Amino acid sequence: MEFSIKISPPEKAKTSCLVAGVFQSGSLSNAAASIDHASKGFVQAIIRSGDMQGNAGSSRFLYHVPGIKAERVLLVGLGKKEHFGAKEYCDAVRCAVTAISGTGTRDAWMTLAELEVIERDPEWKARHLVLASSEVLYRFEKMKSSKAARNLLSTLTLGFPVPAGKAAFESGIASGQAIAAGMNLARDLGNLPGNVCTPSYLAKTAEELGKVHGLAVEILDRREMERLKMGALLSVANGSRQPPKFIVLRHDGAQKKEPPVVLIGKGITFDTGGISIKPAGEMDEMKFDMCGGAAVLGTMRAIAEMKLRLNVIGLVPTTENMPGGGATKPGDIVTSMSGQTIEILNTDAEGRLILCDALTYAERFKPSAVVDVATLTGACIIALGHVCAGLFSNSDKLAHEIIAAGESSWDRAWRLPLWDDYQEQLKSNFADFANIGGRPAGSVTAACFLSKFAKNFNWAHLDIAGVAWRSGKEKGATGRPITLLTNYLIEKAKGNVRRGV
Ligand code: BES
Ligand code: MN
Ligand code: ZN
Repeated sequence: MEFSIKISPPEKAKTSCLVAGVFQSGSLSNAAASIDHASKGFVQAIIRSGDMQGNAGSSRFLYHVPGIKAERVLLVGLGKKEHFGAKEYCDAVRCAVTAISGTGTRDAWMTLAELEVIERDPEWKARHLVLASSEVLYRFEKMKSSKAARNLLSTLTLGFPVPAGKAAFESGIASGQAIAAGMNLARDLGNLPGNVCTPSYLAKTAEELGKVHGLAVEILDRREMERLKMGALLSVANGSRQPPKFIVLRHDGAQKKEPPVVLIGKGITFDTGGISIKPAGEMDEMKFDMCGGAAVLGTMRAIAEMKLRLNVIGLVPTTENMPGGGATKPGDIVTSMSGQTIEILNTDAEGRLILCDALTYAERFKPSAVVDVATLTGACIIALGHVCAGLFSNSDKLAHEIIAAGESSWDRAWRLPLWDDYQEQLKSNFADFANIGGRPAGSVTAACFLSKFAKNFNWAHLDIAGVAWRSGKEKGATGRPITLLTNYLIEKAKGNVRRGV
């Protein structure tokens, strides 16, 4: 998909499809008004006919519009003018691209980025136009023997009547494309089945990212994990024939002395539950249990392409969680890399076991912040549904930064408590603590478990169980929370100096 910027009044735009917005109650966007003027009232006549009322989610193609150069016009309903915010804008872009991709049109001229969006600047509008379009156009056909006819839309022009803000729109397109590519990578990895996307496959993908995008990559194998005494992580891998991997990626964007941000992503390439095996219904969706890891890989790809002036380290502990002759059994006690012992009362609470050793590993980088991303608990879906990620943090400042990054990129997170009161639930008669805390507040006790390994740095945990993929007819990985993460990192990089300067 190509994106570019052109300066021209819409009626002069040479394109297969000219897209313009119409608000509810018939108020025209500037572009729609220009088209109406050039066509001597064609648009207003359509509105008077009642065929386009400007409702959000509605669209209408117009053919043979007089007085303009475009082959067709697509009117897109924008809803109420007073409420045109981030969500409404992205919805309008998605609606337009969906309508266009249903035709044979190869190129389109979008005027939506000139709309006023509440509290959003030109850079944001261009970035999110790219992201919303890419989301609609994404297809996963890697595992189909014959590919469906590709949708043909391949060139989107952001058209403006005047050059004001051109540089900001351009930089928004560039960051949007980098983030979209990262999200597509994460979606592909999430959608690939567990028999293809194994820990070794993720490691190979990371190595390729390193080569193509200039990231330093190191893959630790079982022997090195044993040497590091990652007993919790290895206990999850015990039941699997697939060798576990510990992926380390490094983006050196700022000066050496700047402490890095460490991102950690849960990389369970299939979660059967282990000996505490899951019921059969919808178990296929546990191939998505590596979406946290995929989000870290996608974010690293995006920031490398953006040449972000920040030092960032990505860690992806990855293994299957399988039952097997060597598998960990309920009641087994393992020693984590931190030295703390864990009574494994449920082998299905495996995510925290691989993350805890990654958190301990992160200490060596003396990070300014550590953010882990994980499809950690079904309980998080019960608490927050599929709208936002659950956020936990031992630092109010970091929590606020992440909430703000989520709000501005509309990839939101909502904070839940990490109070000591909940730590009670993890008590064990036999080890330092247990790996589960019972049914009440399951997401909180999972985060409390992790907090025992995050005492030496500012840390935030994002439980993405509800947002990493969609079920049902639209089943597939979403690429969330890559927009939140990249936005957080972009904000953090502001004011930094490039390495070597
Ligand atoms: N990967 C799952 C969490 C999950 C389940 C995410 C369903 C999305 C949908 C995780 O490893 C898990 O199994 N968690 C258990 C924890 C429990 C045993 C304390 C859960 O949520 O049931
Ligand atoms: Mn599990
Ligand atoms: Zn899991």
